[in-house]
Amino acid sequence: MTIYYHDSQKTFHLQAGDSSYVMQVVNKGFLTHLYWGKKIKEYRFANRLQFTDRAFSGNPHPSENRTFSLDTLPQEFPVYGTTDYRAPIVQVQLENGTTITDFRYDSHRIFKGKSELEGLPSTYIEEEAEAETLEIMLYDELSGLKAVLLYTVYNDRSVITRSIRLVNSGRQSLQLLRALSASVDFRDNDFEFIQLSGAWGKEREIERHSLRQGIQSIESRRGASSHQQNPFLALARKNADEQYGDVYGFSLVYSGNFLAQAEVDQFHTARVSMGINPFDFSWKLEPGDSFQCPEVVMVYSHEGLGGMSRTYHDLYRHRLARGPFRDRERPILINNWEATYFDFNADKIESIAAAGSELGIELFVLDDGWFGHRDDDKTSLGDWFVDERKLPNGLDDLASRVRNMNMEFGLWFEPEMVSVDSDLYRNHPDWCLHVPSANRSESRNQLVLDFSRDDVCIAVTKMVMDILSSAPITYVKWDMNRHMTEIGSARLPADRQRETAHRYMLGLYRVMEKITTSFPHILFESCSGGGGRFDPGMLYYMPQTWTSDNTDAVSRLKVQYGTSLVYPISSMGAHVSDVPNHQVNRLTSLQMRGDVAASGNLGYELDLTKLTDEEKEEVTQQVAQYKKIRSLIQFGDFYRLLSPFAGNETAWMFVNKKKTEAVLCYFRVLDAPNAPFRSVKAHGLDSGKTYRIQETGEIVGGDELMYAGMDVPADVSGDFQSVVWHLKEAE
Ligand code: DGJ
Repeated sequence: MTIYYHDSQKTFHLQAGDSSYVMQVVNKGFLTHLYWGKKIKEYRFANRLQFTDRAFSGNPHPSENRTFSLDTLPQEFPVYGTTDYRAPIVQVQLENGTTITDFRYDSHRIFKGKSELEGLPSTYIEEEAEAETLEIMLYDELSGLKAVLLYTVYNDRSVITRSIRLVNSGRQSLQLLRALSASVDFRDNDFEFIQLSGAWGKEREIERHSLRQGIQSIESRRGASSHQQNPFLALARKNADEQYGDVYGFSLVYSGNFLAQAEVDQFHTARVSMGINPFDFSWKLEPGDSFQCPEVVMVYSHEGLGGMSRTYHDLYRHRLARGPFRDRERPILINNWEATYFDFNADKIESIAAAGSELGIELFVLDDGWFGHRDDDKTSLGDWFVDERKLPNGLDDLASRVRNMNMEFGLWFEPEMVSVDSDLYRNHPDWCLHVPSANRSESRNQLVLDFSRDDVCIAVTKMVMDILSSAPITYVKWDMNRHMTEIGSARLPADRQRETAHRYMLGLYRVMEKITTSFPHILFESCSGGGGRFDPGMLYYMPQTWTSDNTDAVSRLKVQYGTSLVYPISSMGAHVSDVPNHQVNRLTSLQMRGDVAASGNLGYELDLTKLTDEEKEEVTQQVAQYKKIRSLIQFGDFYRLLSPFAGNETAWMFVNKKKTEAVLCYFRVLDAPNAPFRSVKAHGLDSGKTYRIQETGEIVGGDELMYAGMDVPADVSGDFQSVVWHLKEAE
């Protein structure tokens, strides 16, 4: 058993892996939070709630108790208007215009396994015994709204997932103004707030700062999880590093507008809240209707950030990603985007594919520009028909030729978008998100299709599925290249317009569910101008994501390091591209480009026909070496050793589950005169084992590699250097 309920004390004790989470129902039905942290065998109230009369903290039941105030109470489902002034989890407008609610415990049940969330992606189980779920029902008499709080505990992982279903069981029509998924109250604020922020081309940079009184938040209002902020936050104790210290991670399984925040109050407690962004959101709930909030995946680690990341990696790799590719080694690909952009024909494509095949590459991906009359980004999105000027014999013929070269064939789509210059838009000008009589703002010359509408979703699904059925396609890159503006739907009444952005996500999830499950032999990679929608919601449908449009090896150190805080290596597309790099104009060595890209799902994105013989030889070796270590890279445990955010050097390593094999990568960006000697301490090896270093033949103990470290050879000189050591247990 992993969830215990003590009736006499009205406590719930959830044990997940090496963690405990404790709640209690107190004083006429308030659900309070008592503890979250390292596992406790039995909770006996050593940190029981304390009550005292505080100035300006009101009392819901003053005649009974002046010391009881929601303002000072750590809660699981805080609401507004009944003495708590901190951020509420839910806010509802009643027919009389008021927004006060007063939720109290009603009942609960505990069951084996985990339920699915209707219409939304979520983590799952394969066997009932993997997890246990607690459902707590709260009820608000004022509105008739029921809140069903779901807590799932994975037995062998320090993971608790939370979500909420709101059910209108009353007689009046309600307007949800705020419907977050989780709120956790910590007893103190002695934490640092960690977020993954950035921009196009520099996604998921790690930022860390102390908490201060007030609200610190990250959010997206862009209609996508976004390059700018990722739906993740962690609170880390100030001493927590990669190996040691308490860290609490919160990751939202959602791809649209989100809010993640920590509020420090007057008593120096901290409240974390996360869910759909209440900004420009509301949802009408008629009597009998319900609303499902997305899932928050909460991870506790007492082994610092490294421990938290490995817990997320394992969970997201095996119990969020789905389909036959989940556990399969991912193919090495060549993508023609940076090689040709829109300027290609069938011969050019065949020549790149042929060059790739000679180098041992396994998959050719035809990127943007194969449909409509798309010679630039001004046209044709929505017209998913082959451009016969470029591919006169069609996709089937091209794909078959590529397959005859012993490679798989993959194709790019951007199904959620429409160009004004397209037949689709000319025929259906109301199919895009828009507000009547308002201007339609464009971005990359395109508009966003209104996926909140069923008819639009059905039509797009058909177009995509027709193409996928027309040729032997085994990989799809699903792109999305702008954010939403003028968010409104021609199909929704006035009082439901603010539902559009969330309805869009529900429509998108339905479309992706249909397409991905109809073509299980296709590996889907999501993309949004690189990593603009690198989130757990997308990973549920597509097990990998194009990490960033920035393919520069130096920039990629930060992008991939930051991304690894939450997302498994098997989810990160990483390509070797040309120099000077197309995004930052930098000249890096082919070796470093290869070693950085081989730290993810390796691919190439350059005109392979233009490689010199020496370069071809080097790429052949990169490809051959990657095939030897790829299962370790994609499915091993990942350890961050030196941070690119801290300086000129980066190091990380991959260790297989049995600790019999590892790969350690060291990167140095710039050389310096009289640089200090450097040794890198390995993590995650078995201290009792000895390892043979494949490159040198030396045999060294795991203990020595971890405690003394591995010397970076002093003769490594020049800018943009990388060194990789492949370790195998010595016989
Ligand atoms: C943005 C993607 O991130 C690129 O890789 C490429 O597919 C372009 N879109 C094509 O328009």
